[in-house]
Amino acid sequence: MGLAEPAGKHVQDSRVEMTEIVMPNDANPLGTIFGGRVMQLMDIAASIAGFRHARCNVVTLSVDSLEFRRPIRVGDAVVLHAWLNWAGRTSMEVQVEVYSEDLMTGERARTSTAFFTFVAVDQERRPTPVPPLLTLTQDEERRFQEAARRRAERLGRKEREEI
Ligand SMILES: CC(C)(COP(=O)(O)OP(=O)(O)OC[C@H]1O[C@@H](n2cnc3c(N)ncnc32)[C@H](O)[C@@H]1OP(=O)(O)O)[C@@H](O)C(=O)NCCC(=O)NCCS
Repeated sequence: MGLAEPAGKHVQDSRVEMTEIVMPNDANPLGTIFGGRVMQLMDIAASIAGFRHARCNVVTLSVDSLEFRRPIRVGDAVVLHAWLNWAGRTSMEVQVEVYSEDLMTGERARTSTAFFTFVAVDQERRPTPVPPLLTLTQDEERRFQEAARRRAERLGRKEREEI
C-alpha cells in the first residue's frame, strides 16, 4: 500500500516569482512605472499562486490597502513574489511583495506589499472548495494566524457596511 496523499497543499507548492522589465510604454512622463501597471502585475502574480493552489479558476475578491513606497524606473526590473498565507473553504489570502531591481548593479528595494483575497469558482462562477493550506515553518504558521485575523476584520467590515 502506498503512502497516503497529504490532506492539503504546502505554501511552497504555489509560490510565484515573476520578473518583468519596465518598458517606456509602462511609464509616466517622469520615466517611472504607472501604479496601475504595478497593480496589474501584482494581480497576475497573486492569481497564479491562487490557480496553483486551487487548480481551478480563481477571481479577485479584494485587495487590502496598497502603497507605492519608491518609484521604479524604465529599464529596471520589477520582481514580484507571491505566496498563500491562508486558505479557507473557497477563499485564499495571497501576499504579494514587489521589488525594484537595478539591472546594472543588482541593487533591490521593496516598493509595495499587498494582501489579495481570491475565491475559487466553478464553470458557473459559483465559489468552489480549495485544498487546505499546510504550514511547515513557524513563519508560515505566524502568517496563517495573521491572515486569519485580517480575514475576520474584512468580514466584520463587510457585515457593518451591509447593515
Ligand atoms: C468572488 C465572488 C465569486 C464571491 O461570491 P459570494 O457570493 O460573495 O461568495 P460567498 O459569500 O460564498 O463567499 C465566498 C468566500 O469569500 C469569502 N468572502 C466573502 N466576502 C469577503 C470579504 N469581504 N473579505 C474576505 N473574504 C470574503 C467568504 O468568507 C467565503 O470564503 P470561505 O469559503 O473560504 O469561507 C463574487 O463576489 C464575484 O464574482 N465577484 C467578482 C470577482 C471579479 O470579477 N473579480 C475581478 C475584478 S472586477
